[in-house]
Amino acid sequence: MTQKTLVTCALPYANGPIHLGHLVEHIQTDIYVRALRSLGQNVIFLCADDQHGAPIELNALKQGLSPEQFIAQWFDEHTAVFRDFQISHDHYASTNSPENQHYANLIYGRAKEGGSIGKKDVEQPYDAKAGRWLSDRFIRGTCPNCKSPDQYGDACEVCNATYSPRELINARSALSGEALEWRKSAHSVFLLSKHGEFLKQTIADPAFMNPGPAAQLGQFFEKGLADWDITRDGPYFGFPIPGETNQFFYVWLDAPIGYIAATEQWAKKTGKAKSALDYWDENADAKIVHTIGKDIVYFHCLFWPAVLKVAKLKRPAHVHIHGHLTVNGEKMSKSRGTFINARPYLDVLDPNYLRFYYASLLGNGPEDIDLSLKEFRERTNAELVNNLGNLANRALTLLAKEFGGQLAPAKPELGRPLVEGALAKVKGIIDAFTTFESRAAVKQVLEIGYSANQFLAAAEPWKKLKVPETREAAHQSLSEAAEIVFLLTALLEPIVPELTQKLAKQLGRASLSLAQASTATYPLLDRSVKIGDPSPLINRLEAETVEKLIVNAPPPEEKKPKQKEEPKKVDAAPPAEIEFGDFVKVAFKAGKVLACEKVPKADKLLKLSVDLGEGTPRTIVSGIAEAYAPEAVIGRNVVVVANLKPRPLKGIESRGMILTAGKGGKDLILLDPGDVAPGSEVK
Ligand code: MSP
Ligand code: ZN
Repeated sequence: MTQKTLVTCALPYANGPIHLGHLVEHIQTDIYVRALRSLGQNVIFLCADDQHGAPIELNALKQGLSPEQFIAQWFDEHTAVFRDFQISHDHYASTNSPENQHYANLIYGRAKEGGSIGKKDVEQPYDAKAGRWLSDRFIRGTCPNCKSPDQYGDACEVCNATYSPRELINARSALSGEALEWRKSAHSVFLLSKHGEFLKQTIADPAFMNPGPAAQLGQFFEKGLADWDITRDGPYFGFPIPGETNQFFYVWLDAPIGYIAATEQWAKKTGKAKSALDYWDENADAKIVHTIGKDIVYFHCLFWPAVLKVAKLKRPAHVHIHGHLTVNGEKMSKSRGTFINARPYLDVLDPNYLRFYYASLLGNGPEDIDLSLKEFRERTNAELVNNLGNLANRALTLLAKEFGGQLAPAKPELGRPLVEGALAKVKGIIDAFTTFESRAAVKQVLEIGYSANQFLAAAEPWKKLKVPETREAAHQSLSEAAEIVFLLTALLEPIVPELTQKLAKQLGRASLSLAQASTATYPLLDRSVKIGDPSPLINRLEAETVEKLIVNAPPPEEKKPKQKEEPKKVDAAPPAEIEFGDFVKVAFKAGKVLACEKVPKADKLLKLSVDLGEGTPRTIVSGIAEAYAPEAVIGRNVVVVANLKPRPLKGIESRGMILTAGKGGKDLILLDPGDVAPGSEVK
């Protein structure tokens, strides 16, 4: 048995849909994995959703869901998208899982025993008025570098400088506007500084990572490796730190451990390994390869190897780093409509187009790649549709129509040069696939297609088959061209798996593997076996279809249909985007309903008395009377917008607003903050 290989993609946050940027990574890695499988290697491909952290908790709350419900929704959307893009993960796991908690605790325990966990009083900005710790994004002030006012606590959006909130001039809480108060909390930290020499050596190895990004990590060593704060004070959606009170592992500690948890779940599911340790024990005979984007190199190439080393676990043999996707030459942007999500893409286009296009652009370096819609269409049509698709379709259709699907006996003097020319490229193509150089693979596959097209153009079977004396020659040249089509089932499988299955079916055979292709000799086809039923492999891409990818693109002026004046629909338009700073001005609090009654002469309104932990309960008028009887509300916990200016409703001064979800009227449910004390912040 060859050495086992475990390949991963970075774990997408369970905080939004999969977009075409994520797919750069999954498609590139899928191509790599499929090539290894086709070569007969023992490889598994794992991924998971990254489900912890403050943003997930916050967004769940905004939707009136528990974090568990919220991440479950994204899990379903992510796995369905990956399936439809033919990403062949052997298992797709979750980080909010017992397996992950088990390994997080195990690793933390071993790190602690090994002397790599320290304690540190961390001074953190605290907003005494709002009664909470403030993370960087909750802080505003003047940039210490360019002096622009109203910048975040960690970075300036004007000059891109990064800094600590301590350096920010006139730093204030975005919640209350109060000056920051620095308070101490004792945090567990990972003593990264103990592993400086080891990490220096690790990243200097070009087999481990690309030297470009490795050089960029040099800055961290110059400053001296800072110890890594792995603690977050509660409330926090994550795993509690064993032995600590109200403290949780920072999401970036348990996220990569998700790779191990995914292995454990895969082992349980398939029975193909006893446990994750078959791969992750430091003495396991396994090779681990991670694929990540250039934005998360720091976590994977500095922390992760050090954490694995102290925990006596297997370190990655290679971290493959890719660049980011731009659309039409610019960063994907929601406002320009170029932030393209995967599901809307699938609603208009075949996933094979994107797989092929990405494959034709991606190499093993961290450079960005661009989805230029024009180039996407032109290359797809010229390369996938014309060069490869039409070659197959022309040869197979004529063989089926004119020769009943029979192949002519091999004619070496005709076919051998063509087929051997193609076979000579197989090794280079395999090398390209197995080093993340798919664009070099595509280039060589296209050369093979081109030479077969030239071959047919010179042989002119479509003319020759009309003349009885040359009909046999036509049959022969078409059959030799079918050899190349057969070879393509191996060479294209990693890139466009579904299309190659279709092709193999049309050839009336199982597709060829890369292992077979690498040792094949002329002729590849058993000429006594008939081909199947040919049909066009894939349609041309039309400009109008491709343009549909740009979300909400306004129709060009001249094409705009004349619209009749329609009555304005209320609620039809989604609310405009707001700044994060505006959002955090809203104070959500948990309250308990003490009393509730109908509001006279208003059949939609209830008057509630709500305990917000302020001593005196507040009177709040809420439009929930069609959905709830007053008795049904008394005693319930509710979420209240606590800092809304008092406003009169039917003559009653309402102080705050109660959050609900649903269409309105009868269809409304009260959001439940859970079993927390009145006045608890909901954040
Ligand atoms: N959850 C972390 C990763 C934890 S791994 C232990 C995360 N998630 S992410 O959803 O933001 O990104 C997942 C992967 O997608 C990352 O490798 C990231 O680089 C990649 N991409 C996200 N946007 C991208 C582009 N626009 N282009 C290419 N890759 C991009 O980071
Ligand atoms: Zn600045």
